[in-house]
Amino acid sequence: MHKHSQSCEKVFITTPIYYVNDKAHIGHAYTTIIADTIARYSRLIGHNVFFLTGTDEHGQKIEQSAKDKGVDTFQYADEISKKFKDLWDDFDVSYDYFIRTTDDKHKLGVQKAFLTMYENGDIYKDFYEGNYCISCESFFTSLQLLDGSACPDCGKDTKTIKEESYFFKLSKYEDKLLAWYDENEDCILPRAKKNEVYNFVKEGLKDLSITRTSFNWGVNLPDSMGDSKHVIYVWLDALCNYITALGYGGDEKDMSFWPCNVHFVGKDILRFHAIYWPAFLMSLGLPLPKHIAAHGWWTKDGAKMSKSKGNVVDPIDVANAYGLDNFRYFMLREVPFGQDGDFSQQALIDRINSDLGNDLGNLLNRIIGISGKYFDYNIDSCDVVKYYGKEIEESFAMIENIEDYIFNMQLHVYLERLWKPLSLGNKVIDSYKPWELMKQGKIEEVVALSALVANIIARVIILLSPIMPKITAGMADVLGMKIDNDSYNSIIKNKELLSPFKIKKAEVFFPRIEEKILIDEEIKEEANTDNLIGIEDFFKSEIKLGTIKEVEQIEKSSKLYKVFVDVGESKLRQIVAGIRKYYTKEELINTQVCVVSNLKPAKLMGLVSEGMLLAVKDKKNLSLLRVEKEIKNGSKIS
Ligand code: MSP
Repeated sequence: MHKHSQSCEKVFITTPIYYVNDKAHIGHAYTTIIADTIARYSRLIGHNVFFLTGTDEHGQKIEQSAKDKGVDTFQYADEISKKFKDLWDDFDVSYDYFIRTTDDKHKLGVQKAFLTMYENGDIYKDFYEGNYCISCESFFTSLQLLDGSACPDCGKDTKTIKEESYFFKLSKYEDKLLAWYDENEDCILPRAKKNEVYNFVKEGLKDLSITRTSFNWGVNLPDSMGDSKHVIYVWLDALCNYITALGYGGDEKDMSFWPCNVHFVGKDILRFHAIYWPAFLMSLGLPLPKHIAAHGWWTKDGAKMSKSKGNVVDPIDVANAYGLDNFRYFMLREVPFGQDGDFSQQALIDRINSDLGNDLGNLLNRIIGISGKYFDYNIDSCDVVKYYGKEIEESFAMIENIEDYIFNMQLHVYLERLWKPLSLGNKVIDSYKPWELMKQGKIEEVVALSALVANIIARVIILLSPIMPKITAGMADVLGMKIDNDSYNSIIKNKELLSPFKIKKAEVFFPRIEEKILIDEEIKEEANTDNLIGIEDFFKSEIKLGTIKEVEQIEKSSKLYKVFVDVGESKLRQIVAGIRKYYTKEELINTQVCVVSNLKPAKLMGLVSEGMLLAVKDKKNLSLLRVEKEIKNGSKIS
């Protein structure tokens, strides 16, 4: 599956592996597109690249999603993993290997890592008691929780878990981590993010629980440990993908790509990569990654994207509507790496019409026009230095050392700088006015002028190719050249000018876009038929009318009431309901409510709850669903 070319430096680049509990949105596409860009750039300049992506398939969250859908967990993971892979293939993402944490090869590697850390004295067995957020697959201390129980990262309720667990001695690595941050200025990019990590570690690290006994969907402990009820914590399992993909624990020949050059991650998962992962690696005796680069978060119209809000932007829709390369350009140009960005179709349209259409596309068209009109599309660089020596030097200077911006992740500055020679090209045509030079018989000067501009475009599209691979290949074709390591070496590194060639007439690369192409996502969500159910599904829930007879406060909870409801049965039902903030006892007693009466009993705060009250809620308020006429208790909703 690897397609490495022969060349000097080995470069290993990774995306996070994606959870298979949802389909991809533009946030996921962003991480992958950045990594793909750096991988392509590295190949262009001649490095031997291993670019890794894949899917993170274990853990309670995935197990639960599959259960909710009523499908087998592996089958569920398999389907969504395939969707991610298909998406990256459609997007022509140049990954060399697609790892799945359900691969046997990966599982063996994780077990080997676990055993090695154990043998090195970094793992011990104890009990864990804490607050676990299934959605983030992460533990929090009571102090970190919001409102006493909600996850500080995603806001969902955490679960109190007490179980036997193996622990990793994270605390032992505190000083070593601090020393690593100190000695490697750019190990975490951008640097502002590094300071956050640094301060977090300085506050002190607790040992990390790294196994679970409460569910099965994960990698088992190595057989030799004889403790089969434990599965390995999903983050330890997932982080190890970066070495198991290189064969760790099996055929280790690709381990020559380790250490990784850059792990690309979103800011939400930086802590796992910049603290846990280096500590695990230290324990394994492996070198640490050279860079961990954390990007910001994409929102839609200022709000976090989520299915329930109906504002999830599908990257396929955007690419189909506006063009994949244009979308790639927009994402990298619009938002400084590390900062949050807001997706708007108008901003994308503006970038396409202005940067791509007016500046780049138009310059190419002008050259096609001039050379076509006067020289039958022939371009010859022989007199460029003679007539436009200053301008060509200036265009070289504008992109001198531009590569630094790629490797310190300032991709937006890279693109901004890359546009300077394009402005120069447009300006040169405006000020020298080739049509007037022709009238004055200065033919050689016009030949040189069109060659100057063609050379500028050639240089820009080579350097733009990692961001816009398809369109730049099309433009290179117009200029009779190819974009590869050879042309990079001759044109960019050795500053050679193009040999004489004939321009091929081309399609219009950036047709002007007058109005938004995609309908508003919210409208689309309404038209979405994916989540329709049959009437028989609806009637699986039995909803009965009942009267609240008693209400009790629950100690230690500001949210919950214990209510006793008469639903027409011989005994009152005890229901624990999160409505205390919205109703006083008096507003509840002797009123009728709707009760889901065939729910399996559940335990909340140690109390059995035998049903659920129906309510609707928005950001400010909650209202119970009531009936407007008195109806006999126990009547079913139909
Ligand atoms: N499975 C873990 C990663 C394990 S790596 C050993 C995970 N998966 S994820 O699918 O939830 O997220 C994958 C990547 O997508 C992360 O880098 C995350 O930051 C990114 N994004 C998800 N939503 C995003 C936005 N709305 N905006 C930008 N990127 C975000 O975390």
